[in-house]
Amino acid sequence: MVNPETGTLYLHPDRNLALELVRATEAAAIRAVPFIGKGDKNGADGAAVDAMRKFLGTVDFDGLVVIGEGEKDNAPMLYNGEHVGTGHGPACDIAVDPIDGTSLTAAGRQNAISMIAVSDRGTMLDASSVFYMQKIVAGAEGHGVLDIRQSIGDNIREFAKAKGKPVGEIVVAVLDRPRHEELIEDIRATGAGTRLMLDGDVAGGINAALYGTRIDMCVGVGGSPEGVATACAIKALGGFIQTMLYPKTDLERERGLAAGLKFDHVYDADSLVTSDNTFFVATGVTDGGLVNGVKRLGPIIRTESIVLRSHSGTIRRVSADHLAEKWLD
Ligand code: FBP
Repeated sequence: MVNPETGTLYLHPDRNLALELVRATEAAAIRAVPFIGKGDKNGADGAAVDAMRKFLGTVDFDGLVVIGEGEKDNAPMLYNGEHVGTGHGPACDIAVDPIDGTSLTAAGRQNAISMIAVSDRGTMLDASSVFYMQKIVAGAEGHGVLDIRQSIGDNIREFAKAKGKPVGEIVVAVLDRPRHEELIEDIRATGAGTRLMLDGDVAGGINAALYGTRIDMCVGVGGSPEGVATACAIKALGGFIQTMLYPKTDLERERGLAAGLKFDHVYDADSLVTSDNTFFVATGVTDGGLVNGVKRLGPIIRTESIVLRSHSGTIRRVSADHLAEKWLD
Protein backbone atom coordinates (compact mmCIF):
# COMPACT_ATOMS: atom_id res chain seq x y z
CA MET A 1 0.00 0.00 0.00
CA VAL A 2 1.35 3.47 -0.83
CA ASN A 3 1.15 6.27 1.73
CA PRO A 4 -0.60 9.12 -0.19
CA GLU A 5 1.27 11.81 1.77
CA THR A 6 4.81 10.54 1.44
CA GLY A 7 4.48 8.34 -1.65
CA THR A 8 6.39 5.59 0.19
CA LEU A 9 5.36 1.98 0.56
CA TYR A 10 4.01 1.15 3.98
CA LEU A 11 2.14 -1.66 5.61
CA HIS A 12 -0.15 -1.48 8.58
CA PRO A 13 1.53 -3.39 11.35
CA ASP A 14 -0.27 -6.63 12.18
CA ARG A 15 0.52 -9.94 13.80
CA ASN A 16 3.75 -11.74 12.97
CA LEU A 17 2.91 -15.39 13.60
CA ALA A 18 6.55 -16.37 13.22
CA LEU A 19 7.46 -14.48 16.40
CA GLU A 20 5.20 -16.89 18.28
CA LEU A 21 6.29 -19.97 16.35
CA VAL A 22 9.92 -19.35 17.24
CA ARG A 23 9.17 -20.61 20.76
CA ALA A 24 8.41 -24.01 19.24
CA THR A 25 11.71 -24.26 17.33
CA GLU A 26 13.61 -23.00 20.38
CA ALA A 27 11.97 -25.70 22.52
CA ALA A 28 12.71 -28.42 19.95
CA ALA A 29 16.37 -27.34 19.73
CA ILE A 30 16.77 -27.23 23.53
CA ARG A 31 15.25 -30.69 23.96
CA ALA A 32 17.51 -32.13 21.27
CA VAL A 33 20.67 -31.03 23.13
CA PRO A 34 21.07 -34.07 25.39
CA PHE A 35 21.20 -36.18 22.22
CA ILE A 36 23.93 -34.21 20.41
CA GLY A 37 26.80 -36.55 19.58
CA LYS A 38 25.18 -39.55 21.27
CA GLY A 39 24.52 -41.53 18.09
CA ASP A 40 20.77 -41.69 18.65
CA LYS A 41 18.98 -40.08 15.68
CA ASN A 42 15.54 -41.28 16.69
CA GLY A 43 15.95 -40.18 20.29
CA ALA A 44 16.94 -36.67 19.16
CA ASP A 45 14.08 -36.45 16.68
CA GLY A 46 11.54 -37.79 19.19
CA ALA A 47 12.52 -35.24 21.85
CA ALA A 48 12.39 -32.39 19.33
CA VAL A 49 9.02 -33.49 17.89
CA ASP A 50 7.47 -33.75 21.33
CA ALA A 51 8.67 -30.29 22.39
CA MET A 52 7.69 -28.62 19.11
CA ARG A 53 4.18 -30.07 19.24
CA LYS A 54 3.61 -28.90 22.83
CA PHE A 55 4.55 -25.33 21.99
CA LEU A 56 2.61 -25.30 18.71
CA GLY A 57 -0.45 -26.18 20.77
CA THR A 58 -0.28 -22.78 22.50
CA VAL A 59 -0.26 -20.67 19.32
CA ASP A 60 -3.53 -19.12 18.11
CA PHE A 61 -3.80 -20.51 14.59
CA ASP A 62 -5.38 -23.44 12.81
CA GLY A 63 -2.39 -25.20 11.33
CA LEU A 64 -2.68 -28.19 9.02
CA VAL A 65 0.55 -30.17 8.80
CA VAL A 66 1.22 -30.52 5.07
CA ILE A 67 4.84 -31.52 5.54
CA GLY A 68 5.50 -33.37 8.75
CA GLU A 69 7.11 -36.46 10.14
CA GLY A 70 5.36 -38.72 7.59
CA GLU A 71 2.15 -40.73 7.45
CA LYS A 72 -0.06 -40.99 10.53
CA ASP A 73 0.56 -44.73 11.05
CA ASN A 74 4.33 -44.30 11.26
CA ALA A 75 4.45 -40.95 13.02
CA PRO A 76 2.55 -40.58 16.27
CA MET A 77 2.99 -36.79 16.23
CA LEU A 78 3.24 -33.99 13.70
CA TYR A 79 2.10 -36.40 11.00
CA ASN A 80 0.90 -35.14 7.62
CA GLY A 81 -2.75 -34.14 7.99
CA GLU A 82 -2.56 -33.42 11.74
CA HIS A 83 -4.06 -30.15 13.00
CA VAL A 84 -1.86 -28.07 15.28
CA GLY A 85 -2.40 -24.81 17.16
CA THR A 86 -5.37 -23.75 19.26
CA GLY A 87 -7.72 -23.89 16.25
CA HIS A 88 -8.46 -20.16 16.65
CA GLY A 89 -7.06 -17.62 14.23
CA PRO A 90 -5.76 -17.92 10.68
CA ALA A 91 -6.08 -21.22 8.78
CA CYS A 92 -2.59 -22.15 7.61
CA ASP A 93 -0.53 -24.88 6.01
CA ILE A 94 2.51 -25.77 8.06
CA ALA A 95 5.75 -27.60 7.26
CA VAL A 96 7.72 -28.80 10.26
CA ASP A 97 11.14 -30.32 10.56
CA PRO A 98 11.87 -30.55 14.29
CA ILE A 99 15.44 -31.37 13.28
CA ASP A 100 16.77 -30.86 9.75
CA GLY A 101 20.00 -32.77 10.18
CA THR A 102 19.15 -35.64 12.55
CA SER A 103 22.34 -37.46 11.50
CA LEU A 104 24.37 -34.28 12.10
CA THR A 105 22.85 -34.02 15.58
CA ALA A 106 23.48 -37.68 16.41
CA ALA A 107 27.08 -37.39 15.23
CA GLY A 108 27.69 -34.07 17.00
CA ARG A 109 28.30 -32.26 13.71
CA GLN A 110 27.55 -28.68 12.73
CA ASN A 111 24.56 -27.21 10.84
CA ALA A 112 21.55 -28.97 12.39
CA ILE A 113 18.50 -26.71 12.76
CA SER A 114 14.93 -26.97 13.95
CA MET A 115 12.50 -25.30 11.54
CA ILE A 116 8.88 -24.40 10.80
CA ALA A 117 7.44 -22.86 7.62
CA VAL A 118 3.88 -21.56 7.34
CA SER A 119 1.67 -20.20 4.54
CA ASP A 120 -2.05 -19.58 3.99
CA ARG A 121 -4.24 -22.71 3.97
CA GLY A 122 -4.18 -24.69 0.76
CA THR A 123 -1.12 -22.96 -0.70
CA MET A 124 1.80 -25.31 0.04
CA LEU A 125 2.66 -27.94 -2.55
CA ASP A 126 2.27 -31.44 -1.13
CA ALA A 127 5.22 -33.11 -2.82
CA SER A 128 5.47 -35.90 -0.25
CA SER A 129 4.93 -38.68 -2.83
CA VAL A 130 8.26 -37.89 -4.49
CA PHE A 131 11.18 -37.94 -2.06
CA TYR A 132 13.70 -35.83 -3.98
CA MET A 133 13.78 -32.56 -5.90
CA GLN A 134 16.52 -30.98 -7.97
CA LYS A 135 17.01 -27.43 -6.65
CA ILE A 136 18.73 -24.17 -7.43
CA VAL A 137 18.53 -21.45 -4.78
CA ALA A 138 20.15 -18.00 -4.72
CA GLY A 139 19.60 -14.38 -3.78
CA ALA A 140 17.58 -11.78 -5.67
CA GLU A 141 20.26 -11.47 -8.39
CA GLY A 142 19.18 -14.90 -9.62
CA HIS A 143 15.89 -13.60 -11.05
CA GLY A 144 15.93 -13.56 -14.85
CA VAL A 145 19.45 -14.99 -14.83
CA LEU A 146 19.38 -18.51 -13.37
CA ASP A 147 17.48 -21.34 -15.00
CA ILE A 148 17.45 -24.90 -13.63
CA ARG A 149 17.23 -26.27 -17.21
CA GLN A 150 20.47 -24.61 -18.25
CA SER A 151 23.89 -26.11 -17.50
CA ILE A 152 25.46 -25.38 -14.13
CA GLY A 153 28.40 -23.78 -15.96
CA ASP A 154 26.16 -21.28 -17.77
CA ASN A 155 24.26 -20.59 -14.56
CA ILE A 156 27.45 -19.84 -12.66
CA ARG A 157 28.88 -17.60 -15.38
CA GLU A 158 25.64 -15.62 -15.82
CA PHE A 159 25.14 -15.33 -12.08
CA ALA A 160 28.69 -14.09 -11.50
CA LYS A 161 28.04 -11.32 -14.05
CA ALA A 162 24.75 -10.41 -12.35
CA LYS A 163 26.50 -10.26 -8.96
CA GLY A 164 29.43 -8.30 -10.37
CA LYS A 165 31.95 -10.87 -9.09
CA PRO A 166 34.61 -12.89 -10.86
CA VAL A 167 33.53 -16.53 -11.35
CA GLY A 168 36.46 -17.59 -9.18
CA GLU A 169 34.81 -15.90 -6.19
CA ILE A 170 31.46 -17.67 -6.58
CA VAL A 171 30.79 -20.30 -3.92
CA VAL A 172 28.21 -23.02 -4.56
CA ALA A 173 26.80 -25.19 -1.76
CA VAL A 174 26.03 -28.82 -2.64
CA LEU A 175 25.09 -31.86 -0.53
CA ASP A 176 28.11 -34.16 -0.44
CA ARG A 177 26.57 -37.22 -2.09
CA PRO A 178 27.80 -39.69 -4.75
CA ARG A 179 24.90 -38.54 -6.97
CA HIS A 180 26.52 -35.10 -7.12
CA GLU A 181 30.02 -36.19 -8.24
CA GLU A 182 29.58 -34.90 -11.80
CA LEU A 183 27.81 -31.73 -10.65
CA ILE A 184 30.69 -30.95 -8.27
CA GLU A 185 33.24 -31.49 -11.07
CA ASP A 186 31.24 -29.22 -13.40
CA ILE A 187 31.08 -26.47 -10.76
CA ARG A 188 34.82 -26.63 -10.15
CA ALA A 189 35.52 -26.70 -13.91
CA THR A 190 34.09 -23.16 -14.14
CA GLY A 191 36.60 -21.95 -11.56
CA ALA A 192 33.92 -21.51 -8.86
CA GLY A 193 34.32 -23.08 -5.43
CA THR A 194 32.10 -25.58 -3.63
CA ARG A 195 30.90 -25.83 -0.04
CA LEU A 196 30.10 -29.48 0.45
CA MET A 197 27.36 -30.01 3.01
CA LEU A 198 27.05 -33.25 4.94
CA ASP A 199 23.31 -32.62 5.36
CA GLY A 200 20.84 -29.75 5.74
CA ASP A 201 20.07 -28.13 2.40
CA VAL A 202 17.37 -25.86 3.91
CA ALA A 203 20.06 -23.90 5.77
CA GLY A 204 22.24 -24.07 2.65
CA GLY A 205 19.49 -22.52 0.50
CA ILE A 206 18.73 -19.77 2.99
CA ASN A 207 22.41 -18.96 3.33
CA ALA A 208 22.60 -18.58 -0.44
CA ALA A 209 19.71 -16.10 -0.44
CA LEU A 210 20.84 -14.04 2.56
CA TYR A 211 23.12 -11.05 2.10
CA GLY A 212 26.56 -11.15 3.65
CA THR A 213 27.10 -14.92 3.76
CA ARG A 214 29.90 -16.90 2.12
CA ILE A 215 27.54 -18.88 -0.13
CA ASP A 216 26.23 -17.54 -3.45
CA MET A 217 24.14 -20.44 -4.67
CA CYS A 218 22.85 -23.79 -3.39
CA VAL A 219 22.24 -26.53 -5.98
CA GLY A 220 21.64 -30.25 -6.31
CA VAL A 221 19.17 -32.92 -5.37
CA GLY A 222 17.69 -32.90 -1.87
CA GLY A 223 14.45 -33.66 -0.07
CA SER A 224 11.19 -32.40 -1.65
CA PRO A 225 9.67 -31.36 1.69
CA GLU A 226 12.81 -29.37 2.41
CA GLY A 227 12.41 -27.67 -0.98
CA VAL A 228 8.90 -26.47 -0.18
CA ALA A 229 9.96 -25.22 3.26
CA THR A 230 12.92 -23.41 1.68
CA ALA A 231 10.51 -21.67 -0.72
CA CYS A 232 8.63 -20.12 2.25
CA ALA A 233 11.90 -18.61 3.46
CA ILE A 234 12.98 -17.52 -0.01
CA LYS A 235 9.71 -15.60 -0.45
CA ALA A 236 10.51 -13.62 2.67
CA LEU A 237 14.06 -12.96 1.48
CA GLY A 238 13.09 -11.92 -2.06
CA GLY A 239 15.44 -14.63 -3.27
CA PHE A 240 15.34 -17.10 -6.14
CA ILE A 241 14.38 -20.78 -6.15
CA GLN A 242 13.58 -23.24 -8.91
CA THR A 243 13.05 -26.97 -8.44
CA MET A 244 12.16 -30.03 -10.50
CA LEU A 245 10.88 -33.29 -9.06
CA TYR A 246 13.47 -36.08 -9.17
CA PRO A 247 11.77 -39.49 -8.91
CA LYS A 248 14.03 -42.45 -8.16
CA THR A 249 11.72 -45.15 -9.49
CA ASP A 250 8.81 -45.58 -11.92
CA LEU A 251 6.60 -46.34 -8.95
CA GLU A 252 7.48 -43.00 -7.36
CA ARG A 253 6.73 -41.24 -10.65
CA GLU A 254 3.35 -42.98 -10.84
CA ARG A 255 2.55 -42.03 -7.26
CA GLY A 256 3.51 -38.45 -8.01
CA LEU A 257 1.31 -38.33 -11.12
CA ALA A 258 -1.61 -39.76 -9.14
CA ALA A 259 -1.07 -37.00 -6.57
CA GLY A 260 -1.29 -34.38 -9.33
CA LEU A 261 2.43 -33.58 -9.42
CA LYS A 262 4.13 -32.58 -12.65
CA PHE A 263 7.40 -33.97 -13.94
CA ASP A 264 9.77 -32.22 -16.33
CA HIS A 265 8.18 -29.09 -14.91
CA VAL A 266 9.90 -26.19 -13.19
CA TYR A 267 8.40 -25.38 -9.81
CA ASP A 268 9.42 -21.85 -8.79
CA ALA A 269 8.75 -20.07 -5.47
CA ASP A 270 5.17 -19.22 -6.52
CA SER A 271 4.29 -22.76 -7.53
CA LEU A 272 5.92 -24.37 -4.50
CA VAL A 273 3.96 -21.99 -2.27
CA THR A 274 1.18 -20.10 -4.04
CA SER A 275 0.59 -17.63 -1.18
CA ASP A 276 2.62 -14.46 -0.73
CA ASN A 277 1.96 -14.65 2.99
CA THR A 278 4.67 -16.93 4.34
CA PHE A 279 6.54 -17.28 7.62
CA PHE A 280 9.73 -19.20 8.36
CA VAL A 281 11.57 -19.80 11.61
CA ALA A 282 14.68 -21.80 12.38
CA THR A 283 16.65 -22.29 15.59
CA GLY A 284 20.15 -23.71 15.65
CA VAL A 285 20.54 -27.14 17.27
CA THR A 286 24.29 -27.32 16.61
CA ASP A 287 26.46 -24.39 15.48
CA GLY A 288 26.17 -23.55 11.81
CA GLY A 289 26.56 -20.96 9.09
CA LEU A 290 22.94 -19.83 9.42
CA VAL A 291 22.48 -19.78 13.19
CA ASN A 292 24.50 -20.85 16.19
CA GLY A 293 23.46 -23.89 18.14
CA VAL A 294 22.10 -24.10 21.66
CA LYS A 295 24.69 -23.05 24.26
CA ARG A 296 24.73 -23.65 28.00
CA LEU A 297 26.12 -20.62 29.88
CA GLY A 298 25.93 -21.43 33.59
CA PRO A 299 22.31 -20.98 34.63
CA ILE A 300 21.30 -19.92 31.11
CA ILE A 301 20.49 -21.80 27.92
CA ARG A 302 21.07 -19.52 24.93
CA THR A 303 19.28 -20.11 21.62
CA GLU A 304 19.74 -18.35 18.30
CA SER A 305 17.01 -18.19 15.67
CA ILE A 306 16.14 -16.57 12.38
CA VAL A 307 12.56 -15.33 11.94
CA LEU A 308 11.33 -14.42 8.45
CA ARG A 309 8.05 -12.99 7.20
CA SER A 310 7.25 -12.39 3.54
CA HIS A 311 4.44 -9.86 4.08
CA SER A 312 6.74 -7.34 5.73
CA GLY A 313 10.03 -8.63 4.29
CA THR A 314 11.61 -8.75 7.72
CA ILE A 315 14.58 -10.87 8.66
CA ARG A 316 15.01 -11.05 12.42
CA ARG A 317 17.70 -12.73 14.36
CA VAL A 318 16.41 -13.67 17.76
CA SER A 319 18.80 -14.50 20.55
CA ALA A 320 17.03 -15.80 23.65
CA ASP A 321 18.33 -16.67 27.09
CA HIS A 322 16.26 -19.30 28.88
CA LEU A 323 16.66 -19.98 32.59
CA ALA A 324 17.94 -23.56 32.61
CA GLU A 325 16.09 -24.42 35.83
CA LYS A 326 12.80 -23.95 33.95
CA TRP A 327 13.84 -26.71 31.56
CA LEU A 328 14.53 -29.40 34.15
CA ASP A 329 12.35 -32.43 33.49
P1 FBP B 1 17.14 -35.35 7.92
O1 FBP B 1 17.25 -34.38 9.00
O2 FBP B 1 15.75 -35.85 7.78
O3 FBP B 1 18.18 -36.40 8.04
O4 FBP B 1 17.38 -34.59 6.49
C1 FBP B 1 18.61 -34.01 6.21
C2 FBP B 1 18.80 -33.76 4.73
O5 FBP B 1 20.18 -33.50 4.50
C3 FBP B 1 17.98 -32.61 4.13
O6 FBP B 1 18.42 -31.34 4.48
C4 FBP B 1 18.11 -32.91 2.66
O7 FBP B 1 17.12 -32.26 1.87
C5 FBP B 1 17.98 -34.42 2.63
O8 FBP B 1 18.40 -34.87 3.93
C6 FBP B 1 18.82 -35.07 1.57
O9 FBP B 1 18.54 -36.43 1.52
P2 FBP B 1 19.66 -37.57 1.43
O10 FBP B 1 20.37 -37.61 2.77
O11 FBP B 1 18.91 -38.82 1.15
O12 FBP B 1 20.60 -37.20 0.35
